[in-house]
Amino acid sequence: MDGVVFISGPVHPVTFQLLEEAGLRTKKWKEDRRPSQEEVIENCQEACALISLVRDKLDAFFFKSCPQLRAISNYAVGFENIDLSEANRRRIPIGYTPEVLSNSTAELTIALLLACSRNILSANQAIRRGEWTHFDPMKHLGTDLSGKTLGIFGMGRIGSLVAKKARLGFDMEIIYNSRNRNEEVEDRLGAAYVSWEDLLESSDFLSAHCPITERTAGIFNKQTFQRMKSTAFFINAARGGIHVEEDLIQALNQREIAGSGLDVTNPEPMRSDNPLLSMSNVVVTPHIGSATMETRKKMGEICAHNIIQGLSGKPMIHTINPNFV
Ligand code: GLV
Ligand code: GLV
Repeated sequence: MDGVVFISGPVHPVTFQLLEEAGLRTKKWKEDRRPSQEEVIENCQEACALISLVRDKLDAFFFKSCPQLRAISNYAVGFENIDLSEANRRRIPIGYTPEVLSNSTAELTIALLLACSRNILSANQAIRRGEWTHFDPMKHLGTDLSGKTLGIFGMGRIGSLVAKKARLGFDMEIIYNSRNRNEEVEDRLGAAYVSWEDLLESSDFLSAHCPITERTAGIFNKQTFQRMKSTAFFINAARGGIHVEEDLIQALNQREIAGSGLDVTNPEPMRSDNPLLSMSNVVVTPHIGSATMETRKKMGEICAHNIIQGLSGKPMIHTINPNFV
């Protein structure tokens, strides 16, 4: 196999190794900043394939500017950065990396739940400020997860793993609302399918695991936060665009909800002077849901195999547009 693959950002080394073992040459974006679309296009000119990140906008203009690309794989499960109808029209197979990152993302979600419920961040900051002067049984009081209701919005692969860990590991009650019913979580975990309104009103912790679409963009907003319990926490490890940040800030300031754990923000990256960062009941991480060594390696393996398969005209391991091969 011959040709150049452009990799538009830092990915696990196994990705390069597998592509090179297949005879492909690799070219990577080396700077410690996000390339502009122009720079991605420029770097793709000599390439027959691309490994892209969610931050790269692959729109109609991109496809028109890179007509020679024969395979693309996003190093992510999300693919809202890609104009799929344009890829379809040009018959370019698009790969992505679902499944391998579901567990890591679910574990990070549990980390956010615990960080929120037990004030991990603010308690740690108090030590750093020299405030741990004696044992005070009434300080940093959190809330148990056990017996609480976890509401899940979007019961796909990630949502159902969060449900499993929360139910079996922490004895939480699970309710959910999703585009599709998920009988497995209902049967195995006793999860109850509820209306959107019930989800908002009954959850002690409300965690989003949906993709961003026209339907979900901004769905967590002023009205929805107002419907939530004042003791509830809003958790988002999916996409920042599904919540309206100003409305979240206002809901927290007005104590309409108790706190929030965010791995994704709106916009991204979040600036260091963002008001959410100075709230003691808010925990923010910089979009690290799938950021474990194991998962990044598996994502690299899938992307490399997707590209090799795609260039050979064979089905990719995971593709968003399977009808091309
Ligand atoms: C990361 O956000 C992904 O979509 O994999
Ligand atoms: C994506 O959101 C998934 O559930 O894998």
